[in-house]
Amino acid sequence: MGGRVAIVGSYNQDFVWRTQQFPVPGETRLGHFSTGPGGKGFNQAVAAARQGGKVCFIAALGRDALGENAAKLAQAEGIEARWQWCDDAATGNAAIVLDGRGQNLIIVGSGANLALSVAHVEAQGEAIAQAAIVLVQHEVCPEATARALKLARDAKVATMLNPAPPLSDEDGRLLPLVDLITPNETEFAHLLARHAGKTIEASSIAALDDARLHALARQLGVPSVVMTLGSAGCFVSHGEGARWRDEAPYYRVPAEAVRVRDTTGAGDAFSGSLAAALAELGESSFQSAIVQANRVAGLATEREGAALAIPTRAEVMQRFG
Ligand code: RIB
Repeated sequence: MGGRVAIVGSYNQDFVWRTQQFPVPGETRLGHFSTGPGGKGFNQAVAAARQGGKVCFIAALGRDALGENAAKLAQAEGIEARWQWCDDAATGNAAIVLDGRGQNLIIVGSGANLALSVAHVEAQGEAIAQAAIVLVQHEVCPEATARALKLARDAKVATMLNPAPPLSDEDGRLLPLVDLITPNETEFAHLLARHAGKTIEASSIAALDDARLHALARQLGVPSVVMTLGSAGCFVSHGEGARWRDEAPYYRVPAEAVRVRDTTGAGDAFSGSLAAALAELGESSFQSAIVQANRVAGLATEREGAALAIPTRAEVMQRFG
């Protein structure tokens, strides 16, 4: 069993259509439909729990059938859920379109996620203070997210932000409250433009040389930046005195060889499992936690779906040793 991870975030019911090629505006395409649990917060909570973390998940649900189902799923995963039940907002949902290469397009209907209140987060202050790490994203009410980070900071608990989806204004007040961020290329480009005044094409980021990437990451003022780069693996950049027992200030970890079917939730699998690994780091290096998170995320892309596609620790061990 690992250390305690507190995750404040979203729950969505994912409605998924798989089609060979994305439709262009005005076009209709035939495809296959499926549905399952998702939401960046819940996906990350499942990832952390399946890697052995003791997870407390703080989220809002509508008082409806989808919400009841979410509560049962969390229980089945061994997640200690602190739900805020909403009478006047429906459980969140997401429309997801997948193409034949496993790429996705997503639109989120936030519903109850945006009703998550500061008061509800404050009521979970003890669980936040007892965690080894607190992980948040950008899919719930921003005030609630900021409050969770502040409570963690006050209790000297490590803080981690997965800045997804990219939002124009919120990062400005959240970045000073976090020890670690896990953007993908698009989110990193957004953060650079917004907070360092640098315009860089997201698609060119993975090909930049390591020293340049490190210099760019340092401009965000966050102690540790872990960029997820899809099939190019990930890039780690630590600031002075923030190396979590890593020797190198920056390095890359290549992606695992996997047969990609569905990339939905791969970034969540990465962030959630990284949080769980950091919560039980002990004498191990940060890099060992990154390698583990990379494996979890890679394996998750071989299965369809979001939360339920995330492998357990035993499955990761079996595949990668
Ligand atoms: O990151 C993937 C998730 O984004 C999906 O599960 C969907 O619900 C949206 O939140």
